[in-house]
Amino acid sequence: MIDLIKKLPKAELHLHIEGSLEPELMFRLSKKNQVDIPYKDIEDVRNAYNFTNLQTFLDIYYAGANVLLTKDDFYDLTWEYILKCVENNIIHTEIFFDPQTHTARGVPFDVVITGIKEALQDAKAKYGITSCIIMCFLRHLSQEDAFETLDAALKYQDDIIGVGLDSSELGNPPSKFKDVFKKAKEAGFKLVAHAGEEADFSYIYEALDLLSIHRIDHGVQSIKSAALMQRLKDEQMPLTVCPNSNIELKVFETYKEHNIKELLDYGLNVSVNSDDPAYFKGYMNQNFINLHENIELSEDDIVTLVKNSFKSAFISDELKEVYL
Ligand code: ADE
Ligand code: ZN
Repeated sequence: MIDLIKKLPKAELHLHIEGSLEPELMFRLSKKNQVDIPYKDIEDVRNAYNFTNLQTFLDIYYAGANVLLTKDDFYDLTWEYILKCVENNIIHTEIFFDPQTHTARGVPFDVVITGIKEALQDAKAKYGITSCIIMCFLRHLSQEDAFETLDAALKYQDDIIGVGLDSSELGNPPSKFKDVFKKAKEAGFKLVAHAGEEADFSYIYEALDLLSIHRIDHGVQSIKSAALMQRLKDEQMPLTVCPNSNIELKVFETYKEHNIKELLDYGLNVSVNSDDPAYFKGYMNQNFINLHENIELSEDDIVTLVKNSFKSAFISDELKEVYL
């Protein structure tokens, strides 16, 4: 089974590029840019990665991102993730970035997007890896702030395929961003949103009905509503599930309690993704391996999960045919 997991060409649909910042690169950039980080060595960093919920992770994740300042920093960050794609046999990836995390520190939008984009162009040239970029609004900030971010993105519409919604979920429901998602839709962006990660399934209904999203990020709380499960199945709405993340952030206490097999058996369009792999102990293959070691998944289940990613990707039907 582990052989099959490693050999299958895969797609990733839920990956925060800032969440792929490995401690080694964090230290190198901290020294180069003279930005202090609250750790004395790599071991100290790893020890700090001990989360009790989403917010305890986000506090550390935003602090880590402070070391990213120049276009080269964003290039190196993205390139290191691409090398992990090669190792994990990921042939297509859709990458989230959080512009507000950087623009709030005075790093121009242009620096961030150009560094990421150039690395992705090189990934295509060197490894044939295809990719898209999705810009996420930070939901703990205001809708007005999100509008400003959307305005900045309009001139990069050739580079940014979609917009998403991430950060602190509880208390920041999708309804808070209804108007900015409407404008993003009118501008032609694909739409996704984190929903039902920690917050209850009402957030998933809001994301579907008020934001008109094309995919739900996480969505594991949908299992609490039979009516929602039926709807997600009927619509074949993609759920980009992130098993390691859910365990590390205590959405489920143990791997054995993870509900991905139930979602899959019910007929939902679920895929496996790594979310913030530098913080959650592993990239794509490790997510599959952990599932395999803790949950009864057949070879067909693994193949279905992988196929669902390609089916749900923001790529042309022609490219889908090639990949499927
Ligand atoms: N930003 C990075 N990772 C996230 C997650 N798992 N949930 C919400 N926001 C995030
Ligand atoms: Zn996420």
